[in-house]
Amino acid sequence: MSTPAPARATAAPAPATGRAAALLVSALGVDAAVVVRSPGRVNLIGDHTDYNDGLALPLAIDRELVLAMAPRDDDRVRLVSERDGVVHDFALADLVSGVVEAVARWPSWTTYVQGVLRQRWVEPDDGARPRGLDAAVASDLPEGAGLSSSAALELAVGRAAAVVDGTHWDPSAAARDGRRAENEWVGVATGIMDQLAVAHGRAAHAMALDCRDATWTHVPVPDDLDVLVLDTGARRSLVGSAYDDRRHDCEDAVARLGVASLRDVDDLAALADLPAALRARARHVVTENERVRVVAAALRAGDLAELATAMRASHASLRDDYEVTGPELDTMAALANETPGIVGARMTGGGFGGAVVALAHPGEVDVEEMVARYREVHDLPAEVLVVRPADGTSLVDVVGSG
Ligand code: GLA
Repeated sequence: MSTPAPARATAAPAPATGRAAALLVSALGVDAAVVVRSPGRVNLIGDHTDYNDGLALPLAIDRELVLAMAPRDDDRVRLVSERDGVVHDFALADLVSGVVEAVARWPSWTTYVQGVLRQRWVEPDDGARPRGLDAAVASDLPEGAGLSSSAALELAVGRAAAVVDGTHWDPSAAARDGRRAENEWVGVATGIMDQLAVAHGRAAHAMALDCRDATWTHVPVPDDLDVLVLDTGARRSLVGSAYDDRRHDCEDAVARLGVASLRDVDDLAALADLPAALRARARHVVTENERVRVVAAALRAGDLAELATAMRASHASLRDDYEVTGPELDTMAALANETPGIVGARMTGGGFGGAVVALAHPGEVDVEEMVARYREVHDLPAEVLVVRPADGTSLVDVVGSG
């Protein structure tokens, strides 16, 4: 029935390194002193657990963003992205507390850069020296697909900034800076999963992540499984959205239960006295933590039946108990889970729009057919990427002394 088809849109993208460096020259007239690559991430299982001190199983992917940068002698920052070629210009001094409303004037991608620079240089806790910079960004990560292009950018800025101010590169500290940039400057109350995955990813591995203490173990992803990202083409911003509502529900449940976090709940019976809506939210978090343990063990053991069951159950829980899926993600996950060659599929990331992640037998999935069936239901530019687990944010090049 299924014809092994060359997966659509899966050819390795042209390296963004050359594009970023060329853009820095053409748009800002300077040569790159530092070039950084920074991957996106996809989460195999464990969503909406990170801000509940819970467990997740993300991996950094071989689709990445590249930042080419040159330090300046003053405190100005000039930024340009290949997406539109527009140059944005501000001073570090603009990024002081109390001018957060200024964010509204900026295109969203530049606010992640601002947030990280503010974290490092405007409110420094390590004596880091404020210094302006020119930077150009090129990316092979689709925006809004739930692949954490924002965390990739935050970590890229952190890595480049460490070269400029001469501090030791500490990926965990940079991950924390990135999260604080999102929470306190961009205004999205996200957890730490994305930044840790982008900072500490390892080729051929996923990360079994414990967000309570930000620790992890790398779990090999078997060679005979493909990781597919099924982008629904639906885009919904998390800013000011139901994401915050879900966090508040969890905080409400925690207060009523008298626990430090939902991570402390192992027994669903403990949720019995919660109002039904809060009970459902908490039930998702408690059961999702358990599914992360199951999938990490199943990956190690090569137990595909366990993988499939847990991934499907995760999607159902995110749909029914946590209510963060939506029609496009539900259609894509259902189609994927009945497509020959796919082991298991579920929505990944924050939800509402974005992508489904699937584990699949290489060469056995008729991707064209799956996308065509999806598009019979939703007239959106869906696409399928085959991604490979990749290393976390790293330097590509440092030229001269900077
Ligand atoms: C977004 C957030 C993460 C996490 C996921 C859901 O990606 O940035 O911190 O909460 O949603 O798992």
